Amino acid sequence: METYTLRDGLKLPKVGFGTYKLNGAHGVSVIDSAIDQGYRLLDTAFNYENEGAVGEAVQRSSVPRSELIISSKLPGRHHDYHEAIDTIQESLYRAHLDYYDLCLIHWPNPKEDHYVEAWQALIDAQKFGLIRSIGVSNFLPEHLDRLEKETGVVPVINQVELHPYFNQEEQRKYDQDHGILTQAWSPIGRASEMLQNETLKKIAAKYNKNVGQLILRWEVQLGTLPIPKSSTPSRQKGNIDIFDFTIKDEDMATINSLSSKDGRLKDQDPSYYQEF
Ligand SMILES: NC(=O)c1ccc[n+]([C@@H]2O[C@H](COP(=O)([O-])OP(=O)(O)OC[C@H]3O[C@@H](n4cnc5c(N)ncnc54)[C@H](OP(=O)(O)O)[C@@H]3O)[C@@H](O)[C@H]2O)c1
Repeated sequence: METYTLRDGLKLPKVGFGTYKLNGAHGVSVIDSAIDQGYRLLDTAFNYENEGAVGEAVQRSSVPRSELIISSKLPGRHHDYHEAIDTIQESLYRAHLDYYDLCLIHWPNPKEDHYVEAWQALIDAQKFGLIRSIGVSNFLPEHLDRLEKETGVVPVINQVELHPYFNQEEQRKYDQDHGILTQAWSPIGRASEMLQNETLKKIAAKYNKNVGQLILRWEVQLGTLPIPKSSTPSRQKGNIDIFDFTIKDEDMATINSLSSKDGRLKDQDPSYYQEF
């Protein structure tokens, strides 16, 4: 698969695999199947309670650990420095891993306002060898500016809600200007009505692709890294079969025109949303 190179040198495949709701033995077999289909980046989080399933799939896989990118996230309730360090260690114990390739702060939780401490913990965890690259999720420019001002360290990744109804134009511009790769969560709108959108269906048909593939290709052409989740092997396969076509500029513009300021799937605006 084609790759992105982060500012710190880490190479990431242009599409990763989302694992939210993939838990227990069922989760392990779905994640196993995704690795078999060719996914090499697995996105998990302490709050998904499936770092164990991800770790188990990694152990069972014949793909060497060094060829996989395992990414987890620090939850909102453990932003205090010492708790954050302990939680990253717990996260690794749960997955039976020695290190994460990526660790992100899951949400800024501005009400408590401890995300700068959490960031300092990630910076130190990277120095201790627990994490290769450090990033954030759901951070707005105001949060990112503070991290830089107070620690001097800019994240290499910002994972945000991004799909055709919410294309994150401003955040993408900010990220790009600061050398931050934007990752797209719920990249196909969590299988909402978006997949039945007539405009998207028409454009997808032009390229002989399904709507999911069209959307994922659009996200890659925006320079972002989508992490679709699917429990269905045929969809897992289809969702990475997007490197044999290019969406024309006019179609990119039409897809972008579906986006609106209130296009989030749920009311999860990071300026006030609180993750537990
Ligand atoms: N950082 C954050 O705050 C945050 C928030 C939300 C999500 N995430 C991450 O982002 C990942 C992806 O987001 P998501 O799971 O919310 O939603 P998503 O990937 O946009 O959508 C997943 C849904 O789409 C279906 N699907 C997958 N491919 C399809 C296709 N080609 N055609 C039709 N349906 C398809 C899946 O069904 P089947 O499984 O039945 O195939 C599943 O119901 C998560 O798993 C998680 O890792 C992060």
